[in-house]
Amino acid sequence: MHFLEAKAQPDKFGTIPDSMWWAIVTLTTVGYGDVVPVTVWGRLVASLTMISGLIMLALPVGIIATAFAEDIHRREFVVTWGMLARVPILSSLSASEIADLMRYLRSQTVQQDALIMRRGEEGDCIYLIASGEVMVETADGEVALGPGDFFGEIAVLHNTRRVATVRALRQTKLLILDAADLNALMERNPEVRERIESIARERTEAHWGQIGD
Ligand code: CMP
Repeated sequence: MHFLEAKAQPDKFGTIPDSMWWAIVTLTTVGYGDVVPVTVWGRLVASLTMISGLIMLALPVGIIATAFAEDIHRREFVVTWGMLARVPILSSLSASEIADLMRYLRSQTVQQDALIMRRGEEGDCIYLIASGEVMVETADGEVALGPGDFFGEIAVLHNTRRVATVRALRQTKLLILDAADLNALMERNPEVRERIESIARERTEAHWGQIGD
C-alpha cells in the first residue's frame, strides 16, 4: 500500500509504519476511516485486505466454536455411555449396539421416596439404574438395587403384572427401555436375553406362587 498510495497521499501512506497503521485498522475490521486508499490499485489491495481480515477473524472463531460444541457433545455422550457401560447385562453389546440402544432409552430422575412402580399394576418397560438406589418391596421382603441393576423385567417377560413395589431410596437416575425395544434387543442379542432371563428366573422363584408359570 505504501508503494501504491505514497504518491497520491504522502501524509497518510508516506512511510511504511503509516501504511501498517492502515493495515492493522483494516485487517481487524475496525476501519476508522482516517486513512483510505484513493488509487484504483490501492482500492483493489484494500478490498483483498478487508476480506483477509474477515477470514482471519472468522476462521479461528469457527474452529474454536466447533471444537467447543464437539467437546460439550462428547461429554454428554460419555455420561450416557458411562451409564450403559455400568449395566452388566449390556456388557456383551458392541460399541455400535450400545450407541444404537442409547437412542431408545428414556431417562428419568426420581426423587427420594418416589414410587416408581406399584405391585399389581401393568408394566410395559424395564428400568436400568444409572445412579442412586431403589428398594424393591416384594411380598416376601425387601431388596435394595443399585447402579447397574435393573428391574421391571418380570412383567415384560412373562406378560404379567408387576410382582413388587419399587421405591427410590434416594434421588435416582433411571434409564427406561420399552417392552418392544427390549424384545428387539433380546432378539438381536441372545446373550442379553439369557442374562435377563436368568436373573428374572432367580427373582421369580421367590414369587412363583404369585405369578404362576
Ligand atoms: P416386575 O414384576 O416387572 O416389577 C417389579 C420388579 O421388581 C420385578 O419385575 C423385578 O424386576 C423386581 N424384583 C422382584 N423380585 C425381586 C427380588 N427378589 N430381587 C430383586 N428384584 C426383584
